[in-house]
Amino acid sequence: MTDTLEDFIRGLPKAELHLHIEGSLEPEQMFEFGRRNRVDMPFRSVEEVRAAYAFSNLQDFLDIYYQGAEVLRTEQDFHDMAMAYFGRLHADGGVHAEIFFDPQTHTDRGLPFSVAVEGLLSGMKAAEAEFGISSGLIMCFLRHLDEDAALATLKAAEPWLDRMVGVGLDSAEVGHPPSKFQRVFRAARERGLMLCAHAGEEGPPEYVWEALDLLKVDRIDHGNRALEDEALVQRLVASEMTLTVCPLSNLKLRGVQDLKEHPLKRMLDLGLKATCNADDPSYFGGSICENFTQTARALDLSREEIVTLARNSFTGSFLDEERVARHLAAIDAYA
Ligand code: HPA
Ligand code: ZN
Repeated sequence: MTDTLEDFIRGLPKAELHLHIEGSLEPEQMFEFGRRNRVDMPFRSVEEVRAAYAFSNLQDFLDIYYQGAEVLRTEQDFHDMAMAYFGRLHADGGVHAEIFFDPQTHTDRGLPFSVAVEGLLSGMKAAEAEFGISSGLIMCFLRHLDEDAALATLKAAEPWLDRMVGVGLDSAEVGHPPSKFQRVFRAARERGLMLCAHAGEEGPPEYVWEALDLLKVDRIDHGNRALEDEALVQRLVASEMTLTVCPLSNLKLRGVQDLKEHPLKRMLDLGLKATCNADDPSYFGGSICENFTQTARALDLSREEIVTLARNSFTGSFLDEERVARHLAAIDAYA
């Protein structure tokens, strides 16, 4: 067995299921794209950018996150951003990722729909060839916008839907419940897409109920506040619903004040199918490995619990059974 916790985690085969690709854009690359696309930026140095990443809640973060996306202009930018992420994931022992992107963030500032999606798909293909990492693309609807905009986005995405695994729901949660998006989620389901929704990050347990009952999601992103409702926990356990938990994100956005208070261990103890993910690694101070390692230290997770998180990342993925079985066998061989 590998001796340090960090090495053990790095070598453990794992999948990342909650990753906003726009949130993987590191300040250095932001400057590189800004320069090559001649985009004026409100920051003069990488240090200034990092200093601006002090958030007190989700909206604080979203304001700067949407601003950061301004430098993304060409397919090449999206390709390069994705490849940089997959390279880091590879170094972290990641072998599969299901990545979110926000098309409306790009189409609303005038980019054709094709730019982000073609660039990302090309980056995903290159990552498979170079690193052997498989991946799936999940198109998120911005919940602070209305459902008609989401429906128009699903329509614009039609030529690429066969190359996406699912749809998701992100951005400002409170005040924008899942119930607002029932028609577009039904349409996506009828189209054969898998369904995810951010719920219970800042929003109440009722939003998690709505994501389950009204949107009929296959995965809950975050889900932390589900713990406030015992009946909801029972429902999530009984249905083996995957929760894509993001500890360092919760810390940065003040969902928890200290990692020692993070509910990840409690979730596992309750029998919830939790996974461990980075959310927006460039903004929240850490990759998937950092999330595993810092949380394992803070909560004193056992190696068995760490392995459970990795197993859940495959059983909770949208991979077919055969590939899930192969990844689980690799975990068994390792652990
Ligand atoms: N929550 C909601 N929306 C988001 C996030 C998040 O953590 N990251 C990017 N969009
Ligand atoms: Zn997220």
